[in-house]
Amino acid sequence: MTSVQSSEPEWTHLPEYQEVQDLLDFIPQAPTAYQAVGVLSGRLQEAGFAACKPGSLTRLQPGDRGFIQFNGSALLAFSIGESPLEAFRLVGAHTDSPGLKIKPDPVIYGSSSARLATEVYGGPLLNTWFDRPLSLAGRAALRSQDPLHPELVEVDFKRPILILPSLAIHLNRQANDGVKIERQKVLNPILTLSDNSGAGSGGSLQPDLLTEALAELLGTDTADILDYDLFAYDCTRPEITGLHQEFINAPRLDNLGLCLSAVQSLIKVSCFDGPLHSGIAAVILTDNEEVGSRSKQGAASALLRDSLELLQLACGGDRRSFLNSLPQSFMISADQAHGVHPNYPEVADANCRPLLNQGPVIKSAANQSYTSDADSSAVILDLCQRHHIPCQRFVNRSDMPGGSTIGPVSSTFLPLRSVDIGNPLWAMHAIRETAGCLDQHYSSKLFEAFWQA
Ligand code: CO
Repeated sequence: MTSVQSSEPEWTHLPEYQEVQDLLDFIPQAPTAYQAVGVLSGRLQEAGFAACKPGSLTRLQPGDRGFIQFNGSALLAFSIGESPLEAFRLVGAHTDSPGLKIKPDPVIYGSSSARLATEVYGGPLLNTWFDRPLSLAGRAALRSQDPLHPELVEVDFKRPILILPSLAIHLNRQANDGVKIERQKVLNPILTLSDNSGAGSGGSLQPDLLTEALAELLGTDTADILDYDLFAYDCTRPEITGLHQEFINAPRLDNLGLCLSAVQSLIKVSCFDGPLHSGIAAVILTDNEEVGSRSKQGAASALLRDSLELLQLACGGDRRSFLNSLPQSFMISADQAHGVHPNYPEVADANCRPLLNQGPVIKSAANQSYTSDADSSAVILDLCQRHHIPCQRFVNRSDMPGGSTIGPVSSTFLPLRSVDIGNPLWAMHAIRETAGCLDQHYSSKLFEAFWQA
């Protein structure tokens, strides 16, 4: 009997697949917003974008490009085109993903184990966090010479160190009929088996197990670790799946997929040796979208408005030219969308039914939870048609509220034309989400077309 081996489909060798390969590499390097911004900044710098500080933006001219980090978790990348004072062309996305954030003084010592207390960050599908190898990443604040400026360092354990086991079905026969997840009681992943019953907790001077592990990872003294922002994450690799390798299954596709395609597309159009694009092309990646964007590094702050004004001033403009440029400007707010789920087709609208691998989705809502209107949607529809990019529409079922994104929040501060788009996903906010491989390519193509139009 001859054995039949399934061969790799031809299309994985197509150039369209390069973007998805890039995403497969990027996601494990970006377990939290801090690493996402770190890695993307590195890519920008390699491509000739200068690392800037808001105060160091003095003289900019066509052809200049740079980036600014905010809080280590938000990023503005810009490329100065011809006639920079005329308009901004922006693509916005968010760097954060829903999950479990480690609480302060988190180690809970029990009779047989040490667990970590967590808070829920944003709106994850909590049931998907159980029974997986979890790791920890984020940043730590270390003692420095200046008490007002602790040293901030990225942290990533990179290996599984936590597990959140479900209760066996024999001990809860109703488990398959839906289980209420009691956040305070059960979202405490297990770090180790331990009979240590007191160290670190309740104001003890002894460092706890996590601080010891952090000190070892960072090569520092436990006494120098003043605090941290750490999140649990799924540290298994992203995978391509589907009979014809058409899906990507990975953590944090919302919204790392679009952060990556926005930055890579900006690099491509700014480093291209054809004619320079017009206006100021920029990517703004903000943090804390999953908790409402209300932070200094979030979209509901003056961050974007102030930095755009600084760019105008550095290009020789003034407040008047800045205000004049806003109605001429355009923003694509890029955040993932819902693809129709084959097992739950009834939750989609009757006619607007986005499918995976069928291109970017324009999201609209009468209540303005998305910014798209006829004027801004028309821009995307026409660009897609001209560049042979498939394009789809999303609208909520009339009896479902749906989600929102950074678009409407940014529009509150910046009166510019804006549209909300995203790639269709299944299982948005699960610990691993599923997208269509080709859609990563289509969104990059759309961003390039937008900046070059
Ligand atoms: Co999102």
